[in-house]
Amino acid sequence: MLIRDEASGDHRAIRSVVDAAFESMPFSNKKEGALVDALRAAGALTMSLVAEDNDAIIGHIAISPVTIDGAALGWFGLGPVAVLPERQRGGVGSALIDAALSRLRATAAAGCVVFGKPSFYERFGFRQQAGLRFAGGPPELFMTLLFRSPAPIGAVDYHPCFGLVG
Ligand SMILES: CC(C)(COP(=O)(O)OP(=O)(O)OC[C@H]1O[C@@H](n2cnc3c(N)ncnc32)[C@H](O)[C@@H]1OP(=O)(O)O)[C@@H](O)C(=O)NCCC(=O)NCCS
Repeated sequence: MLIRDEASGDHRAIRSVVDAAFESMPFSNKKEGALVDALRAAGALTMSLVAEDNDAIIGHIAISPVTIDGAALGWFGLGPVAVLPERQRGGVGSALIDAALSRLRATAAAGCVVFGKPSFYERFGFRQQAGLRFAGGPPELFMTLLFRSPAPIGAVDYHPCFGLVG
């Protein structure tokens, strides 16, 4: 399996993978695929990595910028992350997240946030942190990973595409 940046010819395959991954998820609004397309169109896909196996895209992860109290402080949001249903629980999602986080760490990024299941994301180092607030959902599902101190304090907002589409 290869993890690589998306190429211009991958857009439709990525959409299919994301749509398929979330299709049977009860929490999903079925708009995650459209959200990835909207982030790309808005120039807000900071990172778009695919997992490729036998020339087929089987997984995808999106990273986009977030603001803290309206300011761009070098923080990013992880997700959506998606793996084809028939390839889930085989390590593909973890490989995508590891790759995205190590690339982010290697840049000037200060940290990353995620909204999801703590039992999954804690293994990558995400933790609840008192200083960062998120109004978009239950606080116990909002976690942060600090790359560079100091830990900021404030309200986190994802890119506006998340409100319009996601
Ligand atoms: C979440 C997701 C990206 C994980 O990718 P993956 O390749 O299946 O995950 P990995 O094999 O790397 O890691 C396995 C872990 O994922 C979690 N997981 C994967 N599929 C799961 C499922 N159907 N139900 C519950 N947990 C699941 C578990 O925590 C599992 O850990 P465990 O095996 O120790 O219990 C993938 O399952 C997926 O696309 N799910 C649908 C979309 C989604 O929920 N995305 C995340 C929200 S943005």
